[in-house]
Amino acid sequence: MGIKKKIILGLAVILIGIQFFQPLRNQSEEVTEAHFEKVYAVPQNIKAILVRSCYDCHSNNTRYPWYGRIQPGAWYMADHIRKGKQELNFSEFGDYSQRRKRSKLRSIAGQIKDGEMPLSSYTLIHRDAIISENDRQVLTQWFEAMEDSNK
Ligand code: HEC
Repeated sequence: MGIKKKIILGLAVILIGIQFFQPLRNQSEEVTEAHFEKVYAVPQNIKAILVRSCYDCHSNNTRYPWYGRIQPGAWYMADHIRKGKQELNFSEFGDYSQRRKRSKLRSIAGQIKDGEMPLSSYTLIHRDAIISENDRQVLTQWFEAMEDSNK
């Protein structure tokens, strides 16, 4: 066997091998008591955008796509979810201190306004998570108002 074939075969073996190492799934049917939607009266249109564009990385329940178990993509996704939840977890929002809640509400409004979230590496594949200009304004205004009423 030539060196090229050996390398290709080696890579194929690695690629197949890593499929057996799956990260834990971030899935839970339970809507926690501390969930954002239980703590605040979230209008239906706002909720719909959050579900579509944010909860995959910022809640305890990710809607996995069909390719969600294919490595190394699954690790990449798990890493985003871990970091995303560390910064902001809508499933645990009610457990945050008053000060942290306010700071997160401000941060959410800012991230949406500036088009920083959802991550562009995510919307590249999840086209339905792209926030329209109109939704962006609606969402930003709602979160800014929430921050004001939390003072
Ligand atoms: C693909 C995963 C993913 C999606 C989808 C996503 N985020 Fe994030 N988010 C992250 C990660 C990862 C971080 C950590 C910081 C970073 O890497 O930029 C983060 C950070 C943040 C922060 C910063 C928290 C802080 O205190 O500074 C806010 C706010 C935020 N996201 C809001 C949102 C909102 C609102 C949406 C939906 C419109 C959203 N994110 C969608 C992954 C995601």
